[in-house]
Amino acid sequence: MPRYPVSVPRSLDDLGADWWREGVLYQIYPRSFQDSNGDGVGDLRGIINRLDHLNGCDDSLGIDGIWISPFYPSPMADFGYDVADYVAVDPVFGNLADFDDLVAAAHDRGIRVIVDLVPNHTSDRHPWFLESRAKRTNPKRDWYVWADPKPDGSPPNNWRSSFVRRQVSAWTFDEPTGQYYLHSFLPEQPDLNWWNEDVRRAFDDILRFWLDRGVDGFRIDVAHRLARDPELRDNPDFGLAPGEPLRSWTDEQAPRDEDWPEIHAILRRFRGILDEYEARMAIGEVWILDPRRMVGYYGQNDDELNLAFNFAFLRAPWSAEAFRAETELFESLLPDSAWPDYTLSNHDNPRHVSRYAPEGDLERGRRRARLAALMLLTLRGTPFLYQGEEIGMADGPVPPDRVVDVAGRDPARTPMQWDASPRGGFTTGDPWLPINRETATVNVAAQRGDRTSMFELYRSLIRIRKASPALRRGSFRSLADSPPHVFAYTRAIDSECWLIALNFADNPRRVSIAELGRDRLQVGLSTDPARSPGDVLDGDAIDLGPNEGLLISVAGSSPPS
Ligand code: GLC
Repeated sequence: MPRYPVSVPRSLDDLGADWWREGVLYQIYPRSFQDSNGDGVGDLRGIINRLDHLNGCDDSLGIDGIWISPFYPSPMADFGYDVADYVAVDPVFGNLADFDDLVAAAHDRGIRVIVDLVPNHTSDRHPWFLESRAKRTNPKRDWYVWADPKPDGSPPNNWRSSFVRRQVSAWTFDEPTGQYYLHSFLPEQPDLNWWNEDVRRAFDDILRFWLDRGVDGFRIDVAHRLARDPELRDNPDFGLAPGEPLRSWTDEQAPRDEDWPEIHAILRRFRGILDEYEARMAIGEVWILDPRRMVGYYGQNDDELNLAFNFAFLRAPWSAEAFRAETELFESLLPDSAWPDYTLSNHDNPRHVSRYAPEGDLERGRRRARLAALMLLTLRGTPFLYQGEEIGMADGPVPPDRVVDVAGRDPARTPMQWDASPRGGFTTGDPWLPINRETATVNVAAQRGDRTSMFELYRSLIRIRKASPALRRGSFRSLADSPPHVFAYTRAIDSECWLIALNFADNPRRVSIAELGRDRLQVGLSTDPARSPGDVLDGDAIDLGPNEGLLISVAGSSPPS
């Protein structure tokens, strides 16, 4: 907001080693961000050309770090999550020189770079797997998980693949060598055998390769599956309907194909390598729905993941009570040394504007998304944005003849909407996924400078957050006395205090603030563009409009300047 003419930190030194705790991070799905050579697929040069959108200019969003989904050579059965070479760039995205230029250009703008590490599985075209499958006696045979059929020829156990709603076996039979191999995802993604020390050593080298090139961290794909029962015993019968996710389990019922204790030793090994370098980090995809188990991936002594992706908000229904409960639970379970993180959307899930749109009413979805943005950027913890959410992108319609993903995730991956032209400024060629026609109205160019837009809301929130020690690292406390449908909390440090009040209801709500025991409240920002910042709120209660969120500075503190 114009009231806070703060300068946005732009140098890597501004946040120092705390960049991944105090910064705002942003996921780039490279196929869909920006195409620079007209082949219809985004690439690394395209990312470089769009870095000003993220940071470095007065009208940039103010992003401190990007996580780039895989850009390694790949047959693209899973669009890059099937890696055929861990230390190179797929020609569709560019080459290693482009990558080096990208790191330099990002660092010049104060943006750190996190790359995706996919250690659970390779592509079936990876030379390691070609060797492994060639002969039972090949030295690489044991780099993957091979097992004999049961006497009746069926798969070695009852483990299921994560795709196709876990309805198909995770084993594929290899005729020539007469054994099955394991794949937690597609048959084109054979699982590595992390019990093999040579596999571990190979990954030590891969981590060092990218760290030596200057990357600031890794996002670790499927971290919760890296090791599994070496005896390959059946999973217990969880009594789940097909596709129903597993929420919690006791030790006796523990699944044998995920969350295996040995994973923690592997993560400690990764962390040891990261800690040989300065200010590096790892965030893991830990798709375990029981938060008590998930927090274990931070390690007992701050010695595993720096962050474990918290996916609670991807699943939470639109309800103040649900978001409050998830936040309080996470805060209460995290070990003291661990730091929270939050995320509303990513490349694997429907976008939150669409999730929050009752009966497809995107206008309401976007009003709610403004509230969610205020929440995401004021909670205690690192916010992860997914490309396009800063302009309120919805899922793109993908007609049946354009479907390319095996798991129905195309709508969340349609190209970034940069401008109102038919190809959205994304490409001059034929885009690999259809451009959402909404780009005519929902695009970066139209929103930049429009103070009522989603983009300017995100930009204002990020600026206020950066200028505020309380929002970056202060305490979190939810208000005991909130009415139904309201999630309200304070963030405070020293004499600086903010109250955040979020009305999830479609009608107005009144929130008592008696428990704060202070008297002077001033609006710092409202998600409703009609309410101007600076308004002083009197009395014991504040009135929130339908779906309105307020960021309020509490007396005794003054807004950052
Ligand atoms: C992770 C990725 C997803 C991919 C899967 C298999 O869940 O986020 O996109 O399909 O791993 O690699």
